[in-house]
Amino acid sequence: MVDKANMRTLTDLPGPRGLPLLGNMLQIDLEKLHEQLELWCREFGTFYVFRMGRRPVVVVADPESMQVVLRNRPKIFRRVGTIEPVFNEMEVAGVFSAEGDDWKRQRRMTAPAFDSNHLRQFFPTLVKVTERLKSRWERAAANGTPVDVQQDLVRYTVDVTTNLAFGYDMNTLQKEGDIIQEHLEKIFPMINRRVNAVFPYWHYFKLSKDRALDRALVAIRETIAGFVKEGRARLRENPELAAHPTNLLEALLTARDENNAPLTDKEIHGNILTILLAGEDTTANSMAWIMHFMTEHPDIQERMRAEATGVVGDQQILAELQDADRLEYIEAVAHEAMRLKPVVPILFLEAIEDTEINDVRIPKGTPVVLLMQHGALDNAHFGAADQFRPDRWLEENRTGGCPHNPRAFIPFGAGPRFCPGRLLAMLEIKMVMAMLCAKFEISGAKSQEPVSELFSFTMMPRNLFVRFRRLGVPVS
Ligand code: HEM
Repeated sequence: MVDKANMRTLTDLPGPRGLPLLGNMLQIDLEKLHEQLELWCREFGTFYVFRMGRRPVVVVADPESMQVVLRNRPKIFRRVGTIEPVFNEMEVAGVFSAEGDDWKRQRRMTAPAFDSNHLRQFFPTLVKVTERLKSRWERAAANGTPVDVQQDLVRYTVDVTTNLAFGYDMNTLQKEGDIIQEHLEKIFPMINRRVNAVFPYWHYFKLSKDRALDRALVAIRETIAGFVKEGRARLRENPELAAHPTNLLEALLTARDENNAPLTDKEIHGNILTILLAGEDTTANSMAWIMHFMTEHPDIQERMRAEATGVVGDQQILAELQDADRLEYIEAVAHEAMRLKPVVPILFLEAIEDTEINDVRIPKGTPVVLLMQHGALDNAHFGAADQFRPDRWLEENRTGGCPHNPRAFIPFGAGPRFCPGRLLAMLEIKMVMAMLCAKFEISGAKSQEPVSELFSFTMMPRNLFVRFRRLGVPVS
């Protein structure tokens, strides 16, 4: 316990020098924000301050302090204050952006859609969508053309989410042209831009990117109105669904608060879009990073294949939900990819009241940025931390002297707001990786540019192109 008299203030914290009115703004490229914050962390340590304009922003990167901040929600810390209005304006007001009692209510109401019971009922649909991805990659293997796999995987995750959460089969895997992803992909970069803007310029004038966003939001509104219309029709035809909703949409449409009031149309729309966005890029990007590591480590790919073929056999797709538990090595590969390439490398939070982190006073309203990947890349927490070694996650290897600190590995967040989609995401990853390894061999397609990280609220691989070869078909 630090003596109150000896507490430090924000001005005592180290940090990069900035300009008088602009602070460090000119040193920040939003598409590389996480890399810049990480570079400063190496220079100034795991607790420092930078400035956006005149506003100080605290950066915290040591795992134990991060755990304290994450667990003290919703009372002492919230998501940064710009998130709620920016999300509201984009009609994404839902469980991710809500705060306080409103968040508690929405979290309670959306939770059943993600529980393991629901996933069990949904499993046959997951098999169907995975079959479609397999067919798409069979065509790519036959054509021999390099594939932008991140885009294919986004189609997969959108199809999974719309089926699971809304009972609506978008089937974008078997379509080309006008698909909802083209509109959804406009949202995260603009959230990143607006949440970090010093001044809400778009309230006064619109750039072409802002106008493109407006058009995308109109198209998304129409699509979601379609989900809602179908959902309401199903409920009219089967009134018993009100007592036992089969998906999130039905649960949202039938939910009543303590005064027996339904959710407003705005709240229903906001949560549908929240789940679509939260479930789409995160899972697709994680799978894309796994595939990137597979192309770089053929020996690891081979070991994944041996495990996958042992579990899925000739079917090439998981037949039973419980078989996913047998994919231990594939799970280890997924964890290792998430350790080195967490798709949520930064969480933007804010102090709701005057508080303290370690021995530093944090005034109410101070933005607090958590660097999610720092601890996981530190040799003090994971031995040979910069190396891709899935074996470190297997039980039998955890007893050695090598550091292995699970509290420094938080790709899904921690505390009361940890990711509710975690089970679904891990199941999707295992379904896709088992199918991929049992059916194909993949290699990196040489591109002019090396694969790099692109941050736009989530972190994705840029320039990742992959070639597919069907196993058993000779290389031509
Ligand atoms: C590999 C895939 C995924 C990763 C790495 C991931 C990561 C995260 C992280 C870091 C958070 C913030 C947690 C916090 O504030 O402590 C989060 C929140 C959230 N995630 Fe995920 N997520 C993934 C997949 C999904 C999926 C598939 C869904 C739903 C279909 C989903 C729905 C949500 C929601 C609704 C929240 C907000 C929770 C709240 O504020 O209470 N996520 N996720």
